[in-house]
Amino acid sequence: MQLYPVGIIGTGKYVPERVITNHDLEQMVDTNDEWIVTRTGIKERRMAAPDQATSDLAYHASVKALAAAGITAEELDLIIVATITPDMFFPSTACLLQDKLGAKKAAAFDLSAACSGFIYGLSTASSMIATGMYKHVLVVGAECLSRITDYTDRNTCILFGDGAGAVVLGQVPEGRGFKAFELGADGSGGELLNVRGGGSRMPSSEQSLADRSHFIYMAGSEVFKFAVRIMGGAAEEALRKADMDKSEIDLLVPHQANIRIIQSALNRLNLSEEKCMINLDRYGNVSAGSIPIALAEAVEQGRVKEGDRLVLVGFGGGLTWGAAVVVW
Ligand code: ACO
Repeated sequence: MQLYPVGIIGTGKYVPERVITNHDLEQMVDTNDEWIVTRTGIKERRMAAPDQATSDLAYHASVKALAAAGITAEELDLIIVATITPDMFFPSTACLLQDKLGAKKAAAFDLSAACSGFIYGLSTASSMIATGMYKHVLVVGAECLSRITDYTDRNTCILFGDGAGAVVLGQVPEGRGFKAFELGADGSGGELLNVRGGGSRMPSSEQSLADRSHFIYMAGSEVFKFAVRIMGGAAEEALRKADMDKSEIDLLVPHQANIRIIQSALNRLNLSEEKCMINLDRYGNVSAGSIPIALAEAVEQGRVKEGDRLVLVGFGGGLTWGAAVVVW
C-alpha cells in the first residue's frame, strides 16, 4: 500500500451575521455579563437567521476553502460534514452540501462525534487520501446549535453559537501534512452531555417537547473536569505518536468551549497564550465548527506559516476526544 503525505491545502469559515451578546442573554435568563466572561471567557456568539440551516453555513465556508485550495467543487472526491445539528435526519447534510456546491463526483456522508467531529473527520479523510483512494476531500465542521439550545436554561444557553469551518485535504510535499492523530471515546459518559429526545429511543412527542428533551442537556461541572483532563492528555499523546516535543508546537488550535479549559491545557503543555488560537470570546462554543473556524481565522490573520507545527485538539459529547499534529 502506497502512503502519500496528506495535508490541509485550503481553509474557510462562515459565521452568521446576527450577534447575541451576553447583555442580550441577560434579557432571557437570570445571568450577567460578568459571570459569563469570568466563568467562560465568552462575550458574544452568532445565531443563524431563521431561513439558514447547517448546510447553508457549511456551503459558505466550503466555497472559501475551495477557492483557497485553488480547486473546483467538481474536483472533490468526498465530502464529510461533522455535525450534531444536521438539517434533517436524512438525507445527510453532506449530501445537501454536495448538491449546493455542484460537487457531482463526490461521495458524501455526515460524521457524528460532537465537538470532536472535525478531528474525527480529518483523520478519516486523511487515511483515504494517504492510501491513494481519493485525491481531494472536503471536511466541514458546521453547527446550528441555537436550534437545540434551551434559552430558558442559563447553564447551557450562554455557551453555544452557530457557524461553520471547512478545509480541503490533498497531497502535500514530503515532510509536510498530518504527522499523527489521537482519537478516543468513553461512551459511559454519554449521560453527561446529550439531546435525548427526537431519536429512536424517545421519538418526538408532546411529552418529549414538554420535558424539553429536544434541547441540549449538560452536566457542566462533570464535563468541565473531563475536558481539563483530556485536552492536554490527547494533545500529548498525539505529539508522542508524531515523535515531537510540546516545546516544538508553534500554534495550538483547541476546541473553544471555555477559556479556563484552554488555560489548563496551555499549562499542561507549557505554552503561552500567544501560541494558542482563541476566538471563543466572539463565537462561543460551535461544537464541530469551533476548531475549523479557529483554524481558518488563524490562517486569515497570518498566524500560520509554512513549516509551522500545529496541534488541533478537541473534546465533546459521546464522550469523545481527538487531537491532530500537522506540519503546515
Ligand atoms: N449565570 C449566572 N449564574 C450561573 C449561570 C449563569 N449563566 N450558570 C450557572 N450559574 C450558577 C449555578 O447555578 C451555580 O450556582 P449555585 O452555586 O448557587 O448552585 C454557580 O453559578 C456555579 O455553577 P457551576 O456549574 O459550578 O459553574 P462552573 O464554574 O462549573 O461553570 C460552566 C459552568 C461554564 C458550564 C462550566 O462547567 C463548563 O464550562 N463546563 C464545560 C462545558 C463544556 O465544555 N461543554 C462542552 C460541550 S460541547 C458539545 O459536545 C456540544
